[in-house]
Amino acid sequence: MRFSLKNQIVVITGGGGFLGGKHAEAIAEIEGIPILIDIDEESAKAKAKSIEEEYGSAALGYKVDITSTEEIETLADDLLKRFDKIDVLINNAAMNPQMDYKTEKEETRLENFSLERWNDEVSVGLTGAFICSKIIGPHMAKRGKGVILNIASDLGLIAPDQRIYRKKNLSDDKQPVKPVTYTVVKHGLIGLTRYLATYWCDKGVRVNALCPGGIYNNQPEDFVEKLTNLIPLGRMANPDDYKGAIQFMCSDASIYMTGSIVVIDGGRTCW
Ligand SMILES: NC(=O)c1ccc[n+]([C@@H]2O[C@H](COP(=O)([O-])OP(=O)(O)OC[C@H]3O[C@@H](n4cnc5c(N)ncnc54)[C@H](O)[C@@H]3O)[C@@H](O)[C@H]2O)c1
Repeated sequence: MRFSLKNQIVVITGGGGFLGGKHAEAIAEIEGIPILIDIDEESAKAKAKSIEEEYGSAALGYKVDITSTEEIETLADDLLKRFDKIDVLINNAAMNPQMDYKTEKEETRLENFSLERWNDEVSVGLTGAFICSKIIGPHMAKRGKGVILNIASDLGLIAPDQRIYRKKNLSDDKQPVKPVTYTVVKHGLIGLTRYLATYWCDKGVRVNALCPGGIYNNQPEDFVEKLTNLIPLGRMANPDDYKGAIQFMCSDASIYMTGSIVVIDGGRTCW
């Protein structure tokens, strides 16, 4: 029973995305009710529908922009009216920048990185998690029970190794890099995790972070090879590899855990 989420309401931000849908499956597998929220309404609703069909459990998809306080308040009001509680919040949404090799001026590079892009990426990955926690967390604290799980990254603990993003035949000033925002947002989420864990430690709200390593998703072969060389287990993650951790961290199986940073990265941060 410790791994059960029977009838528990689990809000997943970025639920329409690649990993968000996997988190929702993990929740449905242990009888929770995933609420997938995303700016991409079609994807959030389609994933919720396929979970209902596959697992026979309730699942809902909502169009919500997590950078909007009003939209999160409306969502929370609606869920509280429907279910009277929110048990778990998974802060998963982020702008996951694809590396763009086409621009003349390589805009991922620090020297060229625009303030607008910095603000956009921080506002989704970090400010969005703050807004969702600020609005949903107090309902959990009032009930004396709840879990917040922040999805960080191995890059929440280490700097990106920019050598793995290098392209042949490009001068140094044209080489793409993993943007500064990704590392800053993920390190920030770890700070937010520790802050919230202690803030609500006497209110029954547990707050933890998961740091996943890179998931194989048809990236270019040379990139996969270079990244794999940095991973002791010798491969990138499969999309299902985090489901066990999601189930553990969202359920009572992790009842004595708060403020923890769980790293599941094939051992990358050991090397
Ligand atoms: N994919 C990986 O290899 C990997 C590795 C480590 C950590 N992560 C982290 O896991 C999380 C999910 O990654 P993913 O690969 O599924 O990314 P993804 O881009 O597929 O999904 C992110 C989702 O967030 C949504 N989103 C963006 N802005 C939003 C906003 N303002 N409001 C609501 N939703 C918004 C997007 O529409 C998208 O569906 C991210 O935090 C990412 O940093 C991913």
